[in-house]
Amino acid sequence: MKFTYYGHACFAVEIKGESLLFDPFISSNGLAKHIDVSSIRADYILVSHGHSDHIGDLEAIAKRTGALCISNFEVGEWMGRIGIEKTCGMNQGGSRSFSFGRLKLVNAIHSSSLPDGSYGGNPVGFVIATEEGTFYYSGDTALTMDMQLIPRFFKLDLAILPVGDHFTMGYEEALVAAEMVQCKKVIGVHYDTAESIKIDHQQAQDHFAKAGYELLLLKIGEAIEI
Ligand code: NI
Ligand code: MN
Repeated sequence: MKFTYYGHACFAVEIKGESLLFDPFISSNGLAKHIDVSSIRADYILVSHGHSDHIGDLEAIAKRTGALCISNFEVGEWMGRIGIEKTCGMNQGGSRSFSFGRLKLVNAIHSSSLPDGSYGGNPVGFVIATEEGTFYYSGDTALTMDMQLIPRFFKLDLAILPVGDHFTMGYEEALVAAEMVQCKKVIGVHYDTAESIKIDHQQAQDHFAKAGYELLLLKIGEAIEI
């Protein structure tokens, strides 16, 4: 699996030659001005909830690429209303097979509303099990005991967790989340984009390292092989 970070909570994971893009928000992110949105590939776009910092570039990328856009039921319906042709609205607890592997929607404790003010349903996290590895993206969430259920069903190679605090859990809780999902390798997201979610990188990474966990904080545009 190749993981590319596009800033905030936006990233792509390449699996078996296909690109899964998560929570596209790039062109309105002041830290991601060097990313060329029009060159981002997507075969699938996964959206954790309806807030603007997760869907800012969704419509443009979806319409350019023709990607299948997956989210919860309400966000899926909204994507259809704005003219995205290929949508798949699922809901928490549900799983399904796609060409990249198996996708399961799991609980996230957050809120969700859409740009037109309509109801966004419940925010979700994603667990994706593939031949190239298994990973969990929690989406925007508080720390929740529900995370303990994930390792009963999946052996994770990677967890992608928010670490910025204020709107989501901070890095101390993200470490507890990593312990709950039994995954030692974590990529932090949802930090530094605004003043309210700035973190001390060294402090956060030391906090993980002391517990024997790894917190990766990638540069925007950086790609790594997992
Ligand atoms: Ni949010
Ligand atoms: Mn957010």
